[in-house]
Amino acid sequence: MVKNFETVNVKLPHHEYKILIGSGLLDNIPSIVLPMLGRKKVFIITDKTVADLYLSRLSKKFAAVSVGFEHLILPTGEKSKSWDTLSKTVEWLIKKQIERDDIVIALGGGVIGDLVGFAASIVLRGVSLIQVPTTLLSQVDSSVGGKTGINSVQGKNLIGAFYQPILVIADTDLLRTLPRRDFLSGYSEVVKYGLLGDHEFFLWLDSYNDLMLNNGSDYINYAVKKACLTKVNIVIADEKENGKRALLNLGHTFGHVLERSTNYSDKLLHGEGVSIGCILAFKFSEELGFCNHEHVQRVERHFKQVGLKTNLNEIDGSLPNAEQFVNLMMNDKKVKNGFLNLILVTEIGKAFYFENAPLNKLKMFLQKEMA
Ligand code: NAD
Ligand code: GLY
Repeated sequence: MVKNFETVNVKLPHHEYKILIGSGLLDNIPSIVLPMLGRKKVFIITDKTVADLYLSRLSKKFAAVSVGFEHLILPTGEKSKSWDTLSKTVEWLIKKQIERDDIVIALGGGVIGDLVGFAASIVLRGVSLIQVPTTLLSQVDSSVGGKTGINSVQGKNLIGAFYQPILVIADTDLLRTLPRRDFLSGYSEVVKYGLLGDHEFFLWLDSYNDLMLNNGSDYINYAVKKACLTKVNIVIADEKENGKRALLNLGHTFGHVLERSTNYSDKLLHGEGVSIGCILAFKFSEELGFCNHEHVQRVERHFKQVGLKTNLNEIDGSLPNAEQFVNLMMNDKKVKNGFLNLILVTEIGKAFYFENAPLNKLKMFLQKEMA
């Protein structure tokens, strides 16, 4: 029996699905999924770490309801968001004779969700996808809203598709095995929701982060649901990122350059790039006169207090110089007509879309930050 879960509904004009959030969901996936299956067979794709922890438990549960279980185990880590792994995944699905009415299950963090989601969107011109996010980051962000994809040599997440899942199942019990560093990386995306549009949520996190970060399950469940509700409202208003959805990229234009510069290695996790990126976005907003220093300091203090990186100097490895950094930022998907558009802030909880960022000022600002 599922112990305790809540549902967030995603109602898009062309498609609806549910996000189930709570405890004890993993063992119930077969009974939840069974009524959705065309034939009694599922295709599960995961990474090595998650497979070692959860795959055999899940396969036994599928066997118990007589559902066939094909599985593919991919290497762990951001480097799997590549053409090579995408091709391997798609070819595997075809070799296993996936049919159009079958369902692919992405079991893992944001890397697996993004990669498998993209594979599901292109194999046989699209098969149904269920996201089973297993990291905090994927439960609060990447499994929801339909962005899927891989990295290009030129930059992060530059290849992909909008492809909504038919269901998201977020079992927060699985976060108990998540290493602290990955938990914190996901936490930075949680804080992002407060920073971009919800000062009160930021204050809640400022008060209760200790309980949340130390596996207080009620606090985690609350934060995951709150984050999903915030993201869903934004995605419903702007599914394909023609406006408001871009706010979810607060800190990311900076962070993506940092991830590329560290070669998508574990020198810098995605969420660590986001925490440094958010601080840079707040500081650059101050530099341009949009945000006062007190807000910058409060955000910086919060990230430091929980143990997240806030400074470019904390990155292990060499970074591009300021000019190269700005050039790399020009690969961002928010560049329009050759102009760089950025998500900046006026205060905690108030982000806005800033068009045509002054590149010279940005370069001087980055020079200062790197000194
Ligand atoms: P990840 O998928 O690499 O997972 C982090 C680590 O945790 C991996 O080593 C993984 O094997 C391990 N792991 C996963 N679940 C575990 C568990 N329950 N117990 C123990 N270990 C576990 O990384 P992530 O932080 O989940 O996701 C980062 C990715 O998400 C980035 O590629 C980023 O670009 C992407 N992202 C996408 C979106 C979107 O909207 N699509 C949004 C935000 C981030
Ligand atoms: N994580 C950003 C988005 O989904 O739009």
